[in-house]
Amino acid sequence: MRRAVCPGSFDPVTNGHLDIFGRASRLFDEVIVGVLINQSKSGLFSVEERMEMLREATAAYGNVRVESFQGLLVDFCRDQHAAVIVKGLRAVSDFDYELKMAQMNIGLSGVETLFMPTNPLYSFLSSSLVKDVVKWGGDVSAYVPDVVVDRLQSRFGQD
Ligand code: PNS
Repeated sequence: MRRAVCPGSFDPVTNGHLDIFGRASRLFDEVIVGVLINQSKSGLFSVEERMEMLREATAAYGNVRVESFQGLLVDFCRDQHAAVIVKGLRAVSDFDYELKMAQMNIGLSGVETLFMPTNPLYSFLSSSLVKDVVKWGGDVSAYVPDVVVDRLQSRFGQD
């Protein structure tokens, strides 16, 4: 079975992430969304909340599974029997950092990284930008799935 891992913080998941998961799910038998448990960075949503939103938003894909991981991404890929990491690239500015991680990961374990160009509709989009817009009362419903809109509204007291 050909498996790919899409790793990230997903605090929260955006339509840009979902676009990558959907496209990866057509290329691989199974896609595992790996949510990083980062002890040194708390985030807006807990890892459990992020996973709930991800599970609801990816339910329609059928072959996408959501898991969390701690430690090295290459160890998570090994545990999940995934030989490939899929990452979206929004712009050249993403490339420098992503290339270094991909090269380190292939050096550590031989796991390959495939870069997918982000859908231009979402090339400016990030979880941080979404949180900032919502914090000041802006409408992000075009950029995140409904489940995330609902959670953001209750978190920022706009319902
Ligand atoms: O959504 P993010 O925060 O940009 O995702 C970054 C992520 C999770 C892909 C990266 O931080 C990661 O792989 N962390 C796990 C620890 C690790 O393997 N570090 C070495 C990378 S070469």
